[in-house]
Amino acid sequence: MALYAIGDLHLAFQSEVRAPMQTMGKVWIDHERKFKENCEKVIKETDTLVLLGDHSWGRKLKDCRQDLQYISDLPGRKILLRGNHDMFWDVKKTGALNEEYKGKLEFLQNNYYAYEDYALVGTKGYCYEGKDSWDHAIKLVDRELDRLETSFELARADGYSKFLMFLHYPPTNIFEKNSGFTKMAERYKVEQVVYAHCHGQARFHDSIRGKKRGIRYSLVSGDCLRWHPMKIIK
Ligand SMILES: [Fe+2]
Ligand SMILES: [Fe+2]
Repeated sequence: MALYAIGDLHLAFQSEVRAPMQTMGKVWIDHERKFKENCEKVIKETDTLVLLGDHSWGRKLKDCRQDLQYISDLPGRKILLRGNHDMFWDVKKTGALNEEYKGKLEFLQNNYYAYEDYALVGTKGYCYEGKDSWDHAIKLVDRELDRLETSFELARADGYSKFLMFLHYPPTNIFEKNSGFTKMAERYKVEQVVYAHCHGQARFHDSIRGKKRGIRYSLVSGDCLRWHPMKIIK
């Protein structure tokens, strides 16, 4: 039994919006096939794969069906986190998604999932990238911190004290040494923070990687991992 993670598949089986990623270098050419083959080589049916958002370019659920089917067909148990491009996933409809994809996919938002004696907690997160106003960014960060805390507290209420924390956005932006997200990770004594969202060599070191204050931080965006899911826990 093992736990794997990867993010940013940016699937587009039903969409014309394939071009943006295909122009981001060779790593994106035929990436759906490469990723599927890599998963089938290492992930067993008893393993768990956490997918850290930016699953699909489709804007509505009906435009994402084939992308979600592709994920559902991968080996093992699949847990999905929201990314900034996942327009199909309205937070308020997470329950309905979980109901609809029961037994196939699990959607992590304002809930948690157990993996052995760990609670897998998470939310999309947010970090300021200079694209919006500072006030707006603070509002988004606060909302995401509330959602993350909900995930932690639900797990804690069920008796969990070992945590693995998943974010789509990096835990800090390029100027920050720490953030509300790193502080929350420290407060709950998580063992690992796993995040995605950073594309292209120039972005791979925008945030924390490796051990900091006893917590391991890992970037698992698909192009960074060259479509090999990262083993988080054996
Ligand atoms: Fe992405
Ligand atoms: Fe993203």
